[in-house]
Amino acid sequence: MPSNSIDSLLHEERRFPPSENFTSQAIASQAIYDEAATDRLGFWANQARTLLHWHKDFSETLDWSNPPFAKWFADGKINVAYNCLDRHVQAGNGDRVAIHWEGEPGDSRSITYAELTVEVKRAANVLLSLGIGQGDRVAIYLPMIPEAVVAMLAVARIGAVHTVIFGGFSSESLRSRIDDASAKLVITADGGWRKGKVFPLKGAVDGALAGKKSTVGNVLVVRRGENVVDWVDGRDRWWHEELASADAEHEAEAFEAENPLFILYTSGTTGKPKGILHTSGGYLTQVASTHKNVFDLHPESDVYWCTADVGWITGHSYVVYGPLANGATQVLYEGTPDTPHPGRWWEIIQKYGVSIFYTAPTAIRSFMKIGREVPNGFDLTSLRVLGSVGEPINPEAWVWYRDIIGGGTAPVVDTWWQTETGAIMISGLPGVTTLKPGSAQVPIPGIKIDILGEDGTRVDPPNGGLLVVSEPWPSMLRGIWGDPERFQETYWDRFKALSGTKYFAGDGAHVDADGDIWLLGRVDDVMNISGHRLSTAEIESALVSHRIVAEAAVVGAADEATGQAVVAFVILKSKQAKKQTTDEAVAMLRSHVAEQIGAIARPKQIFIVNELPKTRSGKIMRRLLQDVAEGREIGDTTTLADTSVMQIITDKMK
Ligand code: PRX
Repeated sequence: MPSNSIDSLLHEERRFPPSENFTSQAIASQAIYDEAATDRLGFWANQARTLLHWHKDFSETLDWSNPPFAKWFADGKINVAYNCLDRHVQAGNGDRVAIHWEGEPGDSRSITYAELTVEVKRAANVLLSLGIGQGDRVAIYLPMIPEAVVAMLAVARIGAVHTVIFGGFSSESLRSRIDDASAKLVITADGGWRKGKVFPLKGAVDGALAGKKSTVGNVLVVRRGENVVDWVDGRDRWWHEELASADAEHEAEAFEAENPLFILYTSGTTGKPKGILHTSGGYLTQVASTHKNVFDLHPESDVYWCTADVGWITGHSYVVYGPLANGATQVLYEGTPDTPHPGRWWEIIQKYGVSIFYTAPTAIRSFMKIGREVPNGFDLTSLRVLGSVGEPINPEAWVWYRDIIGGGTAPVVDTWWQTETGAIMISGLPGVTTLKPGSAQVPIPGIKIDILGEDGTRVDPPNGGLLVVSEPWPSMLRGIWGDPERFQETYWDRFKALSGTKYFAGDGAHVDADGDIWLLGRVDDVMNISGHRLSTAEIESALVSHRIVAEAAVVGAADEATGQAVVAFVILKSKQAKKQTTDEAVAMLRSHVAEQIGAIARPKQIFIVNELPKTRSGKIMRRLLQDVAEGREIGDTTTLADTSVMQIITDKMK
């Protein structure tokens, strides 16, 4: 992690108490901590009832009789899309803008809640006409355009389950996710805009569905890039044509609170991504509650912008469900931060008067590198709350963010959470918390976090340990799609015998004397590249699937800009090794990984080596490779089967 070593963090002395002005208008207050501390379940029941509309009220808040399978608000009935749309229109807010959409080439659209509701109703009718019903899976592979939001809400509205696949993933990744979820329908676009060009999407869907029997019956195609696409008659349909002829009326049906809402694939410690399952009532409760309290949302006056893509959990919870459940006005931007100029994000903030801004440390660090002159050229005075997510934010980036983007006054909330947790779990609350740069601070009201040692006992400051969530929470994952055993083993078995059923997050953390939590990065083989999760095993299996590769080991090496970077060590098959130069082999393998997984997984560096460091039982010692990749003195090699290997590898890299 960039400069987030425990030593540098422990010396971080800067403190930022809330201003009186901010506190006097803040949504959050000490009272919600007190309420949750007195009656945790009562607090969540209250949030569920005050923030959402229930078609049928629930009588039991939590059923934890069969851990780790939780049920929240189980006998309640709810429609997620109705909560995000119709009720705002019925409350007289139909004319409020839901989405200010900004296309990368400069086109834009502002869509009100009334308009968005009609679009979703039409899309829901299209889905029904294509035979999609409650529980069916729909894959969504779209750029950041309003149709992505419409598609997700239309699926939710009819009780079906979406699985959104980030547009940067390859055809191969798309195929494995469509297969795993047995999706009946794919919603895609011809292409989208990125870095000044149209990137094709429909072709990847065609590739994913080609030459094999698939559960997919239809492909709905949004027209955006206007690039040429192949067409499979009978299977493919244009979104705009279908929507134009669909009925604009659709009554939202109430579904059980535990009706599945979506599956989102994320990387774990094995080569196969996990389909994280989230359900309806509990998920919507916690995303709405955290969105309101953590960002101090005043829906009638704020303009909110979260820069995440809807293909990630941050996009699900804090672009789609949280903001829309709260009736917020938000910005949605299609493209990259530096197209067509490096001030594009700041220009958008100025144009729409964005007041709440939520992004990732990797973006902040890249802006720091370009220099303050760029943001200083725009009027950013509308900003009043700033958020950070995805990886630890180093104190220097935190302070820069507050000073240069937030005018030296905007509170910065560092929010820790995961695909699995569904919503924010640890964060300060603006107007209440005295902020500390570099620390994610405290569990939000109603959440119980502990830091445990290997033996399952609580670790006292200043020691580090493993982060666990000790009590179930409303937006918790309900399972791994199709794999209850992996769900149990991955998250719940770690401390079971030692201290009961607790959720093991996979992160290391440390608590300071004030009780503030400092995240120290993953303790497993999951990497964090620019806030995106990738597994070492997934990239290793992509590398060994290439005909020239005999063996591969991948590590995440500390990187100034991206937090971590993918570094691979590869042994070539001896017959193949001579057929190309090392540079050619490296170039070939880098693009192979991009084709297999997606450009985000492309290794920054590949070293061709003759040996890999292994223990006597044959386990690759990635820790030692990480030492090499980070240019550190190599650690303890005594458990290696052959202790000379590290010397050979280091010599080779000189
Ligand atoms: O290691 C933690 C890191 O990101 C992981 C979760 O990744 P993902 O499921 O892709 O979700 C990212 C967006 C919620 C965590 O296990 N992480 C996320 N936020 C933070 C963080 N690490 C430190 N500080 C954060 N604020």
